[in-house]
Amino acid sequence: MTSSFSRGSPRRRLYLKSSHCGHLYQCIHACDLLHIHMQPRPGVDAALAGASPTRSALAMFSLASRVALVTGAHRGIGLEIALALAEAGAVVYCLDIQAEPDNAWLTVQRHVTKLPAAQDGQKSGRLEYISGDVRDQNAMWAAVEDIASREGRIDICFANAGIYAVGDCLEYPAEDFRKMLDVNTLGAFVTAQAAGRQMVRLGTPGSIILTASISGSITNPGLRSVAYSTSKAAVTQMARSMACELAPKGIRVNSISPGYIVTECVGIHDVYVSQFHAPSRMTLVSFLSTPGLEEQLSVQNPMGRFGCVDELRGIALYLASDASTFCTGTDIKVDGGQCAW
Ligand SMILES: NC(=O)c1ccc[n+]([C@@H]2O[C@H](COP(=O)([O-])OP(=O)(O)OC[C@H]3O[C@@H](n4cnc5c(N)ncnc54)[C@H](O)[C@@H]3O)[C@@H](O)[C@H]2O)c1
Repeated sequence: MTSSFSRGSPRRRLYLKSSHCGHLYQCIHACDLLHIHMQPRPGVDAALAGASPTRSALAMFSLASRVALVTGAHRGIGLEIALALAEAGAVVYCLDIQAEPDNAWLTVQRHVTKLPAAQDGQKSGRLEYISGDVRDQNAMWAAVEDIASREGRIDICFANAGIYAVGDCLEYPAEDFRKMLDVNTLGAFVTAQAAGRQMVRLGTPGSIILTASISGSITNPGLRSVAYSTSKAAVTQMARSMACELAPKGIRVNSISPGYIVTECVGIHDVYVSQFHAPSRMTLVSFLSTPGLEEQLSVQNPMGRFGCVDELRGIALYLASDASTFCTGTDIKVDGGQCAW
């Protein structure tokens, strides 16, 4: 298939030369023919159309006036993503099963209030805390409806809350397997559902991002994590299914699959599991305190190290913002190359 664009009046005159032009024509319709014909798009089109120069490449990532929900945002990856979204201008509701935010969370909240205004004069966003359990559908629907009604919109949803545990596949207790699916899979679904319903109710196009894991695509050598891997594989498929169903409503759905990221989840997760969930018979590992395990896991990726939470900020901003308007139904791995070999 070939096509050419007239450079003088960019993309306003589109010439199609192809036996497949019907297909291309359909694509163009999906982009909104009127928009293509009447307005230059950002970037080269705008430059060639003589639009006043702006730094549109960075502006695409702005989240000024946007409202976001991040679950599991009391700490770890969720809190880091919440802060990144707030720095980009969003009002971010951090929902977590913890009844009250701890001092570390409150310190990050205060930090956001002291951020300098962005170059374009836009103020930074803010962080709010809500206690909730992602497994409770009625409560999640009500909580997100409340946020949307209070703020008048909801644009971004990170379904990020999750738990981790390991155990032999032939011994894994059904009760524990169910618990894993309840938080990681059902919880992600209920969160996405709650946000999607409000985006549709208020007519705001939105971006829903599910935190999956590379464990949903590969088996981690040396880790017996059948329940976790199953729960995360379901999350990547959930993103594809919801993306296809919600695209006509202007809602994008994608998943992120981190590799090994240093958080309390991998550091002290045995304490964590017993804190929030009934004691179980599963064998638990404490990654950073098990002699030799960190070294054994680090060499599983070509970069030879664990990732840090801040190394997920870029992908979070990309998927949450207008930088990714044509990206839906995909899973993006941030894993130091672990899935590349
Ligand atoms: N850390 C990693 O290496 C890694 C790798 C891949 C994917 N992930 C995924 O990233 C997400 C965040 O992981 P993390 O490392 O920051 O873990 P974490 O344990 O530090 O944070 C998880 C947060 O989720 C909250 N939470 C747990 N159950 C909940 C529930 N039922 N309702 C509401 N909140 C609940 C916890 O209180 C906690 O604040 C998880 O989905 C995890 O599976 C983590």
